[in-house]
Amino acid sequence: MTADHARRVPSRQLIGVADPAALATTAAERLISRISANSGRVAICLTGGSSPKLLYELLATSSYRSRIPWGRVHWFIGDERFVSPDDPLNNMGMARAAFLDRCAPAEAVHPIPTATADPTDPDRSAALYEGELKSFYGEDALDPARALFDLVLMGVGPDGHTASLFPGYPALDETTRWVVGVPKANVEPFVPRVTLTLSTLASCREMLFAVAGTGKRPILTRVLAGENLPAARAMSTGDTVWLVDRAALPEDFRG
Ligand code: 6PG
Repeated sequence: MTADHARRVPSRQLIGVADPAALATTAAERLISRISANSGRVAICLTGGSSPKLLYELLATSSYRSRIPWGRVHWFIGDERFVSPDDPLNNMGMARAAFLDRCAPAEAVHPIPTATADPTDPDRSAALYEGELKSFYGEDALDPARALFDLVLMGVGPDGHTASLFPGYPALDETTRWVVGVPKANVEPFVPRVTLTLSTLASCREMLFAVAGTGKRPILTRVLAGENLPAARAMSTGDTVWLVDRAALPEDFRG
């Protein structure tokens, strides 16, 4: 570990943008810079929910599509609703429809397998995905000096959850497993989930939250006030950036 690593205290950077369109272009530019910063194999961890859809669609447009070296970028997902891959609720299904199916080679897309033998057992699916992540990383333990992901995209829910890490759930304190099953969600859709743990998500060069709309302002106010919520606990071992549009930004943080 370098002296720089040892001294590093996790902190988050807050970036305000005008609206959801500016949020999508700023996120797309950050994604491109993270890809450019790594001349080898790149790993991006996508997020679900409705917030990232605009960004995903933007990546498929000719101006962005031509700037991404698709052959060396691998796409993972931070959490999944435990429904079949073609269910409209499936997070990777949304990302596939928005851009991956048109742009990325099939072998570079790494969905959480939900079509497992037991449709009531998200733990089995979690174990399979953990195996896939470990094999991609090439080690069974995460090294703080070598990030698993170049970029992890994140969202925040109304109760302060992020990925499928809900307030007060045991999955939040899991430090051994990389991926866990969550039998019951705290918010809609009320389907079981599979989620990467905080320490797995943390293993990245950049963790990028994207938050837009007045509906997010109350929860963002609580996160920025330092409440002990999953989204506030999610921090990268590298940079943690919150990209927030004007409508979501609490009064105190407006310029
Ligand atoms: C999910 C997510 C979840 C999401 C937030 C925000 O499967 O629902 O991955 O963590 O990012 O709930 O969702 P919205 O973008 O829809 O507000």
